[in-house]
Amino acid sequence: MATEGHGKIGILTGGGDCPGLNAVIRAVVRRALMLGYEVYGIKNGWLGIVKGIIEPLDLAAVSGILPRGGTILGTSRTNPLKKEEDKKALLANMEKFKLDYLIAIGGEDTLGVARQLAAEGVKVVGVPKTIDNDVEGTDQTFGFDTAVSIVTEAIDRLHTTAESHQRVMVVEVMGRHTGWIAVTGGLAGGADCILIPEQPMRIDNICAIIQKRHARGRLFSIVVVAEGFKLEGVEEVVTKNQKLDQFGHVHLGGVGEVIADEIEKRTGFETRVTVLGHIQRGGSPTAFDRVLGTRYGVKAVDLIHEGKYGTMVRLNGNKIDSIPLKDAMTKLKFVDPGLIQTAEIFYG
Ligand code: F6P
Repeated sequence: MATEGHGKIGILTGGGDCPGLNAVIRAVVRRALMLGYEVYGIKNGWLGIVKGIIEPLDLAAVSGILPRGGTILGTSRTNPLKKEEDKKALLANMEKFKLDYLIAIGGEDTLGVARQLAAEGVKVVGVPKTIDNDVEGTDQTFGFDTAVSIVTEAIDRLHTTAESHQRVMVVEVMGRHTGWIAVTGGLAGGADCILIPEQPMRIDNICAIIQKRHARGRLFSIVVVAEGFKLEGVEEVVTKNQKLDQFGHVHLGGVGEVIADEIEKRTGFETRVTVLGHIQRGGSPTAFDRVLGTRYGVKAVDLIHEGKYGTMVRLNGNKIDSIPLKDAMTKLKFVDPGLIQTAEIFYG
């Protein structure tokens, strides 16, 4: 057992990467060393603790990483609770490396594992990450702000070429279950129509919005579509293939092409598609995400120091506090209907 202010903290980053992960890792190491803990970096998400790929992290290891995208620890979509032998290996490696505490940085899947481990007595604290911003329990995940700023810049650029060629531009953005990136990026970029998983729409309605713009002399349009959007009445999302990851997710992609084809066919307006893809997840975090990640990292260590395990740090208004992991991911956080209504004012 660790004595007050001492002990070993293992830290991992799981799921899709996002800008700001290194800010959290740096903050955890800085705060933990200040309070007298040792920190160990677990490589490639839950896989590293199942396989025992764990290395000490010192000040030198985190020096200069604040502005860097990605994660110095690596990540994976490993579910260590899928096979009993992996779960046993995880617990055995916690013993072997004498890890007293875990800090798990991730989205719904990684934090779902943390929640189950917490229920079984592992001293774990979660940090909510994902560009999708769909983790229930926090007002915002880090990575989201950076993704939105990338989408906004892309829409700005697409506007000028759309106008020159009098085209419809369909922009496909990430957002598996929720349309936070699409709605926020679309609002910031002045999109003419935004299509999100929360709100299926008929193709006739989408075309009518674009035709209305044409009728008032605006001969180009920007349509933002989240990858998880479904046309009204269509059951299945558009996927790249049928392969599932360890958490049962399919590889999404292609809905932009489907929508663009239909728009061109039905309206006769020349239409092009841009798929932003992983550009939204790469590169340097915004100032907001650096600060949010830093605040989350410091708070995660403070929670361990206060003995508040089984919790997740969160942004609550402007304050950082925490919520029990068991209350944090009971459902996904869907886009606020008020925000969708605001976006709709600018359609057409
Ligand atoms: O991190 C979540 C997410 O951004 C989803 O919106 C998207 O479906 C997924 O990542 C794609 O990630 P990958 O290509 O790494 O599996």
